[in-house]
Amino acid sequence: MVGVAEQIVPVTLEERSYDIVLHPGLLATVGERLRALTTSPKIGVVTDRHVARRYLQVVLRSLCKAGYDPTPIILPPGERAKTLSTMAKILDALARQKFERQSFLLALGGGVVGDIAGFAAAVYQRGIPFVQVPTTLVAQVDSSVGGKTGVDHRLGKNLIGAFHQPRAVLIDPLTLRTLPRREWIAGLAEVIKYGVIADEEFFGFLEQKIPALLKLDEEPVIRAIKRSCEIKAQVVVTDERESDRRRILNYGHTIGHALESLSGYRGLIHGEAVGIGLVQEADLACHMGLCGRDVVERIKSLVQRAGLCDQMSHASFTSLWGAMQHDKKVTGGQVIGVWPVRIGKVVMQPIEKEVCAAWLQTKRGHGNRSSSGRGAPKHPVRRKARAGK
Ligand SMILES: NC(=O)c1ccc[n+]([C@@H]2O[C@H](COP(=O)([O-])OP(=O)(O)OC[C@H]3O[C@@H](n4cnc5c(N)ncnc54)[C@H](O)[C@@H]3O)[C@@H](O)[C@H]2O)c1
Ligand SMILES: [Zn+2]
Repeated sequence: MVGVAEQIVPVTLEERSYDIVLHPGLLATVGERLRALTTSPKIGVVTDRHVARRYLQVVLRSLCKAGYDPTPIILPPGERAKTLSTMAKILDALARQKFERQSFLLALGGGVVGDIAGFAAAVYQRGIPFVQVPTTLVAQVDSSVGGKTGVDHRLGKNLIGAFHQPRAVLIDPLTLRTLPRREWIAGLAEVIKYGVIADEEFFGFLEQKIPALLKLDEEPVIRAIKRSCEIKAQVVVTDERESDRRRILNYGHTIGHALESLSGYRGLIHGEAVGIGLVQEADLACHMGLCGRDVVERIKSLVQRAGLCDQMSHASFTSLWGAMQHDKKVTGGQVIGVWPVRIGKVVMQPIEKEVCAAWLQTKRGHGNRSSSGRGAPKHPVRRKARAGK
């Protein structure tokens, strides 16, 4: 991939503006890229054990070469570490090392590391600058962009957090080569989401290139990450604090989050639940007369070809509505859904309980088995696996 030109996506938020930089091999140049952003020598490098094993040394070397004095802060991997007590450990380390207002944090890892390090940066001394160096597909196309940071609470995911924009997002797509396949495929659900909500041409590109993406071919991978970042950046710029338009990013997530919560965050990882949500919410939109069956079939086919599951098991239907109501995005008791009207365009509108119930009834009648694409899980909701997000 090294011959590929550097790509830059600007995120324009007045004094909080920053660039997303995308370049294969970028990790080895992190130090020199930070020079334009900070002169303070102190940098805390927050990462997790999995990522540290593979990528910490190259980043530390680059930082030292550029004259920085990095302090590695290594967290346990996985969603279970995304807590206030882990964050307290980061804050302890910063205080012990006498970090100041100008000192920097660098988040090296997936969405868990990015969310928690960003939150620590938001609150240490009422806010210090930080950069995101995302290493999973979910983090590269979604969580590192937009400034949402936070941790989980035992009563809810991402319940505690702050908006704090990074000073830069530095993406090295070569890191994706070591990502477990399951994580890679789950990340593709978020990529497909961008096509449905904002860009039919991009959706068509994904339809054409899905076999190449599954093989991690460099050019389509870079184009998919770049276009996803552009769409996320565009949405964030129009609605930084999620008062309205930013909610379109929630397409696939009303049902997705409900399925995750019904599985006790043990059966499905986040992107897998979103894959099902993309198809089922399109199906529900079709039931409501908002889009044609052809739209549902196109989304379903792409989700399946990506190796994602597209169906819910029977077990989840009875509690689905209750779980949908517990989603954070519910306002005043109303479930506001994001519905495709065609590929590339969605609308936001509330859904009535009776409509959802009638839709579920039609699905019962149509043998809603856990059929799925190649390699997809057979009983996603009941499967045992590591904690989701
Ligand atoms: N802030 C936001 O806007 C936003 C958006 C979406 C998701 N999120 C959050 O992101 C989190 C999920 O992020 P995720 O999917 O990246 O999960 P993750 O951070 O748990 O990473 C998944 C696993 O991959 C490992 N890993 C990371 N990079 C690797 C690499 N290059 N090679 C090998 N292994 C690697 C990690 O150690 C971990 O075990 C959730 O907590 C979710 O709430 C936040
Ligand atoms: Zn998501």
